[in-house]
Amino acid sequence: MSDGNSFPKNFFWGAATSSHQIEGGNENDWTRWEKRNAEKLAEKAKERISKRASFEKIKSHAEDPENYISGKAANHKNRFKEDIEIASNLGINSYRFSIEWSRIEPEKGEISQEGIEFYHKLLDKLEEEGIKPFITLHHFTSPKWFVDRGGWESKTASKHFQNYIETVVEEFGDRVEYWITVNEPHVYALNSFLLGRWPPEKRNPYSYFKCLKNMEKFHQEAYEKLKSVEETKKVGISSHNTYFYAEKGFLNHKVASFLREHWNHRFIKRNIKSIDFIGLNYYKRRKINKGLFANEFHEKSDMGWELYPEGLYHVLKELDRYDKPIIITEHGLADSEDEKREKYLKKSLKSCQKAMKEGVNLQGYLHWSLLDNFEWDSGFWPRFGLIEVDYDTYERKVRESAETYSEIIKNNELPE
Ligand code: BGC
Repeated sequence: MSDGNSFPKNFFWGAATSSHQIEGGNENDWTRWEKRNAEKLAEKAKERISKRASFEKIKSHAEDPENYISGKAANHKNRFKEDIEIASNLGINSYRFSIEWSRIEPEKGEISQEGIEFYHKLLDKLEEEGIKPFITLHHFTSPKWFVDRGGWESKTASKHFQNYIETVVEEFGDRVEYWITVNEPHVYALNSFLLGRWPPEKRNPYSYFKCLKNMEKFHQEAYEKLKSVEETKKVGISSHNTYFYAEKGFLNHKVASFLREHWNHRFIKRNIKSIDFIGLNYYKRRKINKGLFANEFHEKSDMGWELYPEGLYHVLKELDRYDKPIIITEHGLADSEDEKREKYLKKSLKSCQKAMKEGVNLQGYLHWSLLDNFEWDSGFWPRFGLIEVDYDTYERKVRESAETYSEIIKNNELPE
């Protein structure tokens, strides 16, 4: 438990990323979708984004089709050593990244040694810098061949992901202690299978639940394989939890409670027996007013998302019911000018301390994100990084807020 402004000894201080958003040179279901949709996304930018962000500031990027093609991403594949060195200089002791399935198994049954080598080298570098790896197995992207065989909504999905899980566990199982099987299953299933916003653009409740079911199977399979390497492996998921806040009124409370149980807890509850720690991703509060989302906001990020650091306390407290260790595996904001990050970070960490003082077993905080990256259907304009990336030269620059984060890490406490 924490005392005053300090954090517990051995607290995991880190940052997180995902393969598709930073590596570059991928060939997966998203790259195919991006090429088909870039023009459309650029054309629709005004309609899609103008309400969400300070549109004038990002207009030139948001209306350019190139913004929506991941391409070289942050060129991390070629610059990972530099990125890890910067992280290490900041004092980061933990780093969450994802393995790109399409890099490991580009065609069905064909394992790429080059793909495997890349992640071994990344792990070597982390080891050299004394940084603890947290590996995610699925972070929104899948190989094209998997999707062409029915993908996440198909009855045969588990037949197709076994090889990937086995290969990864065999190659890296003994090198890594902390594993996240799936990232935000509800966010993925909602956007890809219910709202039709992301590939494969389905709008079907049946597909939504089928995808979730298959992700549970994926989780179970990976859990068992990892535990067979060593019982002490720590296996969890990353859950995107929202603070659903109900205004007065019976209906508001009913709606908030339904959303909370479905969105924040369904996947965790159904799999709790095979979850060693809960990875929490927190970005938003949703105010429920007259049974609907209210449009009343505090300060906003560049994405137009309300910045509500106190919400982190509430979602942490909600997770206390499982009696499992919690690690924040994502939390951050898009802030291209780096004007709001420092304050938001400090206030959010204050919320963590408040929860810890009340007994919540929080063991770490991994900021989203280590560096600027490709933000899915919004492309490159949102800037989530502690490290700024110049997309013309790929040069890196540490943001001022990252220096503040570094101070907090080095002192293991929040300033007064
Ligand atoms: C996802 C990340 C994404 C972040 C910011 C999370 O839901 O896991 O991939 O970049 O939110 O939108």
